[in-house]
This record gives sequence, C-alpha cells and structure tokens, in this order.
Amino acid sequence: MQEQLLKRAITVLDNNFQEGGFTIPSKGLYPFQWKWDSGFIALGFAHYNMDRAKKEIETLLNAQWENGFIPHIIFHTDSDTYFPGPDFHQSSLHPQASKKIRSTGMTQPPVFGFILQKLFEIAEDKEDALKFIESKIDSVFNNHVYFYKNRDINNEGLVYIYHNWESGTDNSPMWDDIWATMNPPEYTFERRDTSHVDASQRPSKREYDHYLHIIDIAKKYLYDDAKIAEYSPFLVQDPLFNAILIKSNEALIQLYEKLGDNEEKIKYLKKQQSKSVKSLNDKLYNDELGAYVHFDLRKNMQIPYVSSSSFSPLFSGAPDKEKAIRLVDTMMTKFGGDDRYLCASFDPTHERFNPRKYWRGPVWINLNWMLYNGLKDYGFITVANRVKKDSLELIEKYGFFEYFDSRKTNPDSDNSGYGGDNFSWSAALFIDFLKEKT
Ligand code: SER
Repeated sequence: MQEQLLKRAITVLDNNFQEGGFTIPSKGLYPFQWKWDSGFIALGFAHYNMDRAKKEIETLLNAQWENGFIPHIIFHTDSDTYFPGPDFHQSSLHPQASKKIRSTGMTQPPVFGFILQKLFEIAEDKEDALKFIESKIDSVFNNHVYFYKNRDINNEGLVYIYHNWESGTDNSPMWDDIWATMNPPEYTFERRDTSHVDASQRPSKREYDHYLHIIDIAKKYLYDDAKIAEYSPFLVQDPLFNAILIKSNEALIQLYEKLGDNEEKIKYLKKQQSKSVKSLNDKLYNDELGAYVHFDLRKNMQIPYVSSSSFSPLFSGAPDKEKAIRLVDTMMTKFGGDDRYLCASFDPTHERFNPRKYWRGPVWINLNWMLYNGLKDYGFITVANRVKKDSLELIEKYGFFEYFDSRKTNPDSDNSGYGGDNFSWSAALFIDFLKEKT
C-alpha cells in the first residue's frame, strides 16, 4: 500500500514540475512557484531525482532581489487562474527587485538553509551535493542578512512579517484582532481560488479585502521596508517564521563549517543566532498558555492564541527542556485527543476553530513534518511517532490533499481532504517520511 502511494507521490511531483524548471504547488489553484513550497518540494525530489531538487532551488534563487530579499511567489509564466497576479503585486516598484522575473513584494518563511542541509544528508554523492551547496549558500546567507538588516527593527533578533501571506498561515484566527483594527475598501475583483475549491474551505471575500489593502499600502511606499515598518497596519513577530529562521541559521553555520574558509559569515550568524534564540524565548513564549505565541508590534503585545505555529520552535531547537515539556503537554491536552488527528492548525478548544477552513483548524503536512522532526530531536518519540502516523494515515485515507480535517469522525463529509488535490508538498513530505532512515 505504502509502496503504491510512494509511486503516486512521485507522479504528483513529476506532473507538477514545469518546463521552466520549477514546480507548482497544485494545478489551477496555484500556477506559479511559491517560496516555502519550493523548499519542501526540493526535499521530496532529493530522494529520487537530485538534479530536479537542485533545479527547483536554483530557479527560486534566480528570482532573488539585489538586497537579498526572496519573494513569496515567482510569476515565471502568465496565468489567469490565480488572483492576485503580477499586475496587482507590481514588484518592479521596488528599485532592487529582479529586473528579469516578476514576483510579489512579500516573502515567506526562510526554509532554504535547512533544506540545503537536508539535501546534503540525503545525497549519495556528497561531493557533488557540497559543490551545489557551495554555489548557492551565499544567496541563502544574503537572504538572512536581508532579514536581520531590514526586518529586525528593535535589533532583538526577531524579524517581522508585514502581511499574513508572509506567515504562510494565511487566514489564521490569529489575525482576526488585527483585521478588527482596519477598515479596508471593498475591492472589486474576481476570486479565482473559489472556482477551484469550495468557498467554505478558503478565506472569505472580506478577508481578501484586508489582504489586498495591506499590499496597496506597501506599494504606495514602493515596498520600502522601513516605510512598511512604519505604516503597515499588520506588523507581527511570528514564532513559526522566526523558528524557521533559527533552524536555517544553524544549518548555514554547520554547512559553512563543512565548506571551510567562511569565518566571518559564521561569526555573523552565531551572533544573530544567540539574540534570536534569547528573544524567541523571552518575548514570544507565554508561560500561562505553555506555548509560543505571535507578537503584535502595532499594539506592542502578544497575541494570546495557541496554533500549530506555537509548537514549531521545537523544530528550531530553541526551547530548553522545561519549555519543551510544557509545549508537548499543551499540544496533547488541547490538540491531541483520541478523536483527533495531530496537529490542527489552530486550537480546537477555541471558539474560532474551524476544522474545514484553510489555516483556521485543518491539519497541514508541512507543519506536521516540522513538528515530527522537532519532537524527535527532543526525544519525544511517542508523540513524534503519532504525528507521523497521523500524517501518513490522512494521506492514505484521502490522498495528497493540501490540508485535512483534524476530526477523526467528520459529520460533514466522507472526504476529509480539502483544498488543492495532488498537492506538491503533501507528496514531497510523504516521500521524506517514508524514506526516513530510522
Ligand atoms: N497561499 C496564498 C493563496 O492562497 C498565497 O500565498 O493564494
């Protein structure tokens, strides 16, 4: 059964690979290259087609801006199946944007440090992998320098996101209190996502008005980071984003050590890393909730809700043993009942939880993959195995969907797989789960 699914996972990735040397997340719904998708996709390819894994990363990094910024969507081709496309985002407003490739003017979590390290671990030909890493690692390093230089406004090692799409957890209930402070215009536009996927599984029209309005504000300031930090109504330090940055910092340090002759970069990364780890623990941990939370820089306060992002610092190695035990306890108490799959994207005991709607409750395979690896590193083997088992079971039962209902018994439908079908990172990380050397 798993062997057959492995073949299907490979077919999903191969079918989503495009002539331009990149892989779309899902046909119709997401017709371009997305930053963090691309990293997880490369990891899947690495297990059976290393050339393609390298190509995926190379194509993404080709779209990097002169200031080290890497955009969240790269519009390699024209497509009218997606909104908002390149004409809305207008990345060329920024003076250092890529002159060759159109993109958005926002980013996504910095996964490429740890992805390069995974590639090295998986590669049979270590020498070849190291050569590839040597040719790309400075781009990834420059991306981290960009974040610390432009997005760490308090010089505390925590970087901000200015848009919910930068978090990757697009419509999390986390942002509802921010939306309540805004009153964006009613935009007129044709939604494309809801012609591919049931509207009950996607963000609402009014939520999109907020999303578009923040982009318009950023555009007004030509995507200038300092201006965005001053004027964006959305300015948040996200535990998931910062945990991924920390994980990737560590990977870059280890890879530079392996490559040799990079003392200055290692010194820089180590200095940033110790600040980031300290602030993640001091500022984003909420002792009452036993979880890491988001911090709203506009209101200068924590956003006190528990989501799957709350546990992601386990993946970074930043929590001490005591905090790690608390995190697992919170996860199992709130999210881990026998009637549920781990790990819902938002607190199932909270009134804002919605088991069908995108990031307001469903299970996502990339978060599960990060949690699994983090839990394992801390030695929480039983919980780690449950996360892996639940991930595999959801895919075996429903297919390679974008996200899944976290309820084991679903009164609404026989199909608990939601969003895009034949979704690339669900397939890629399924491959990594199965190929894991135990
Ligand atoms: N995930 C977003 C979307 O739904 C964009 O990053 O379109």
